[in-house]
Amino acid sequence: MARINDNYNKLKAGYLFPEIGRRVKAFTDANPDAAVIRLGIGDVTEPLPAAIVEALHAAVDEMSARETFRGYGPEQGYEFLREAIAENEFRSRGADVSADEIFVSDGSKCDSGNILDIFGSGNTIAVTDPVYPVYVDTNVMVGNTGEADDAGRYGGLIYIPVTAENDFTPALPDRPVDLIYLCYPNNPTGTVASRDTLTEWVDFARKHGSVILFDAAYEAYITDSSIPHSIFEIEGAREVAIEFRSFSKKAGFTGTRCAYTVVPKELAGTTASGDRQAIHPLWNRRQSTKFNGVSYIIQRGAEASYSDAGKAQIADLVEFYLTNARLLREGLEKVGITVYGGVNAPYVWLKTPGGASSWDFFDTLLGKAHLVGTPGSGFGAAGEGYFRLSAFNSRENVEEAVARFQQLVG
Ligand code: MLT
Repeated sequence: MARINDNYNKLKAGYLFPEIGRRVKAFTDANPDAAVIRLGIGDVTEPLPAAIVEALHAAVDEMSARETFRGYGPEQGYEFLREAIAENEFRSRGADVSADEIFVSDGSKCDSGNILDIFGSGNTIAVTDPVYPVYVDTNVMVGNTGEADDAGRYGGLIYIPVTAENDFTPALPDRPVDLIYLCYPNNPTGTVASRDTLTEWVDFARKHGSVILFDAAYEAYITDSSIPHSIFEIEGAREVAIEFRSFSKKAGFTGTRCAYTVVPKELAGTTASGDRQAIHPLWNRRQSTKFNGVSYIIQRGAEASYSDAGKAQIADLVEFYLTNARLLREGLEKVGITVYGGVNAPYVWLKTPGGASSWDFFDTLLGKAHLVGTPGSGFGAAGEGYFRLSAFNSRENVEEAVARFQQLVG
């Protein structure tokens, strides 16, 4: 008999978003005429920018001619894209990242889970609470945790609350930790980390030999010029951090798929015998063995996001979703709901009206207003009593959602 990975049996219910999908399907099956507006999963709705579409078409044409056809590409990504990323995302902001430290991939979700391949067992792992569920679930899958308690907290993980009480600023752990997951701008709370906060974390990691797994998938939404876009804007971060980035939310690539992970050459971990070993070659080895790269066509599309036209169109796209976030924020505040985030991020995080539980509010909102959001408790125990709305939708739907919200709560 084939033994399964028993760790999967420790996972709570379904992954959050499929679970929401299941509940919404049950509702729409029973109410086929309800015009449901989905502000749950953060999935983009607007078409790809024209400069990207043009580059995709051109790349398709290249694939149709013998002289320009491409087969397997480099597992790490094509040089043209890695170079464009290094220049536009990092060097232009004073962050020292070279093209060969960038590994192009098909998603930050995949990378943030796959990264555990190169870390051993027995690490002490810290996550914020609430948190993007992938960090927790992937640690459960590889056996880095114990069982979950009733609130969904897994034994063996260190949970750092980020709530209104601490202004959504995670306190440093009171003991050394080995791996730390940070996501800024934050999913789900839509809040940001100041330069000072990130500096404290980098200093902590340097002191304890920790590795920070920094998810910056939403950096394009930063509007406040004092907020770092990359952990590598912080001095010393090259010794202690890996950064995940994505074209999904920045350039509308959730269905197109292109992302990248930055692994600096200075970053090192410890072998079983206590020797320091560089992490960059390990990730390179992992990707070369288990991944065959992102398609040439898609990488050409991603590259076009750095052309002058691409940059301008992406700025418009980001502005569009940020305006949605503002409309949600202001519309909800008008009926007395306390809201956070949504200024430097495409997510609005709110206190459930009347102190309802997150899932009760989900059911009320779906049942009475035909609106879908994400229950805060789905992101962790400290998310109970909160609720997330995604600003990724058409203007028409966002305006209609605000009106329905106001009718329900006002
Ligand atoms: C979310 O809604 O949290 C994100 O869309 C999930 C993801 O990016 O995987």
